[in-house]
Amino acid sequence: MPSYVITGTSRGLGLGFVKALSLEPDNTVFALARNVVDATQLSDFVKQHVHKNIHIIEADNTHQKSMQNAADEVSKHTGGKLDMLINNAALIHHERDHLTLDSYPNPELLEQDLNIFLRTNVLGTIHTINAFLPLLLAGSMKKCIILASPLGTIKMTLATNFAGATGYGISKAAMSLATAKYAARFRNEGLAFLLVNPGFVKTMPGPKDEVEKLYDFQTANARKKFPDFEGAITVEDSVRDQLVLFDRVTIANTGDFLNRDGTDGDSRL
Ligand SMILES: NC(=O)c1ccc[n+]([C@@H]2O[C@H](COP(=O)([O-])OP(=O)(O)OC[C@H]3O[C@@H](n4cnc5c(N)ncnc54)[C@H](OP(=O)(O)O)[C@@H]3O)[C@@H](O)[C@H]2O)c1
Repeated sequence: MPSYVITGTSRGLGLGFVKALSLEPDNTVFALARNVVDATQLSDFVKQHVHKNIHIIEADNTHQKSMQNAADEVSKHTGGKLDMLINNAALIHHERDHLTLDSYPNPELLEQDLNIFLRTNVLGTIHTINAFLPLLLAGSMKKCIILASPLGTIKMTLATNFAGATGYGISKAAMSLATAKYAARFRNEGLAFLLVNPGFVKTMPGPKDEVEKLYDFQTANARKKFPDFEGAITVEDSVRDQLVLFDRVTIANTGDFLNRDGTDGDSRL
């Protein structure tokens, strides 16, 4: 009975992981959402799902106690074990994404924005991993996945010359290093940590036409510099490929940053 915990399952890729993993009746899926009442896409899916193998748990990763409670609850169901943790939750879009580090109207606002990104995407993920570590070490797969982004790498930032989305990019870069720290700490215990780039995935909320137009525009723009850029992909395609990857990674991959097809995550957008 493989067990999976996924964070940020109210929508987007997190919900996609829940849908795909719960198709297998033997899997037990723990879907973490920070506000269960508002997570209607998730609860609607669970209600009509044929297998009763999904547990929804409310947990906000910015509150350590909340993540510890979630881990305790999972532990009760699994007898203290967890096979795979997928750290998917993140703050991504922000009203001041267009600003660069030097163009904030005042330093207080810069500090406020950086703090919320670091608190959610770095400390929040660290609290999540720490809460589930004892369960992962007792599990049989021993895999901890962290969703990463090309916007959070030095190489891609310089290659794209993109100076915006500062809080997001810096937080993803910091979490990559935190992942390396975990990999160094737990390599000898057989617990693998993997950073994965899910691709450019259509998760943006909003009216379908407008969202598609925006993705087409961004794809065309990216292809001016990177003609091979694959463009925006669906949640289903991204999740399918990532799950194949998660299945085949081993402790030999610990600390790696990979694209969903297994290539070096720093090799393309
Ligand atoms: N989409 C892409 O193209 C892309 C590319 C590269 C990497 N990624 C990474 O893939 C992951 C998923 O992205 P996505 O596009 O699916 O994102 P999304 O649609 O914006 O969903 C983000 C999820 O994170 C949750 N979340 C945010 N703050 C949280 C907190 N403090 N505690 C718990 N949950 C919280 C959100 O919950 P609420 O509904 O409550 O806000 C939501 O469920 C992220 O780590 C992102 O950085 C995505």
